[in-house]
Amino acid sequence: MSRVVVISGGGTGIGRATAELFARGGDRVVLVGRRADPLKRTADEIAEAVRQDPGGDGPHAVGTGTGVGTGVGTGEVTTIAADVSETAGARHVRDVVAERFGRVDVLVNSAGGNAALGSPAGSGDPLDRTAEHWLGNFRSNVLTAVLLTEALRDLLASPGGRVVLVSSIAAYRGSGSGSYAASKAALHPYTYDLAAALGPRDVTVNAVAPGYVADTEFFRGTLAPERERTLVGQTLNGRAGVPGDVARTVHWLAAPESGHVTAQIIQVNGGAERGR
Ligand SMILES: NC(=O)c1ccc[n+]([C@@H]2O[C@H](COP(=O)([O-])OP(=O)(O)OC[C@H]3O[C@@H](n4cnc5c(N)ncnc54)[C@H](OP(=O)(O)O)[C@@H]3O)[C@@H](O)[C@H]2O)c1
Repeated sequence: MSRVVVISGGGTGIGRATAELFARGGDRVVLVGRRADPLKRTADEIAEAVRQDPGGDGPHAVGTGTGVGTGVGTGEVTTIAADVSETAGARHVRDVVAERFGRVDVLVNSAGGNAALGSPAGSGDPLDRTAEHWLGNFRSNVLTAVLLTEALRDLLASPGGRVVLVSSIAAYRGSGSGSYAASKAALHPYTYDLAAALGPRDVTVNAVAPGYVADTEFFRGTLAPERERTLVGQTLNGRAGVPGDVARTVHWLAAPESGHVTAQIIQVNGGAERGR
């Protein structure tokens, strides 16, 4: 059965890899992000990658193009440009999805990022900067997930709907100044409460908490080589995560046979939470 899969942050990184995996399975994928151009490029590239290598195991889409892509013999990939940290953006996604598809089988909340990254250390009043980082991270990681989920809640397929949130190893280990880690940790009780609320509708709600994942836009060029070596060194298998590691876990959580897995936070980090 072709499912309707809404993926926030689907234009890049983990969300993009997840989108490709669902599209390869024939699902209809809706990519949500603020920037329309990368979203459309990604939709085309996924469609092209699937067309060129239908049996491939992805997710390693490459290619060029514009517009909305439709894979041959695979799921359709459409895009909605919206800032889902705002109620208006989340409502817009709901309206488009309701009109076009009428339901959501799988919702993946991958939109997010660390608002404290790339902010110049010495600029402005430290207290103002602290407020900016904490508010920014709660907007970027909590409101994006909560507002989109609440906006789409009534459209979730029942029985069988799936909600997946993307947390972080930072929720367990901290993130330096605390604000990013705290915002990801806030998703855990939301996962538990929503799982309890939606359980009677036979909808599961889980989160994945990745460790360091390379090949994303997350660090915006700020990751120093020695810091990267440290992060890889904390893993027990000695390598960085790749978007496909997380995508495959999300895909498994969304599978019909995973219906008894709910209210869980699944760590995908090569064992780095234990560290070395
Ligand atoms: N990479 C890592 O090492 C790592 C580790 C642990 C957890 N994570 C988490 O994994 C998730 C995916 O991140 P990533 O690593 O794949 O980085 P990424 O490539 O930067 O992806 C984040 C995506 O979220 C979208 N986004 C951000 N704010 C949004 C908003 N307000 N409304 C709609 N879309 C928004 C961005 O697109 P636009 O800018 O166009 O909106 C972008 O496509 C994030 O929640 C991140 O916190 C990442």
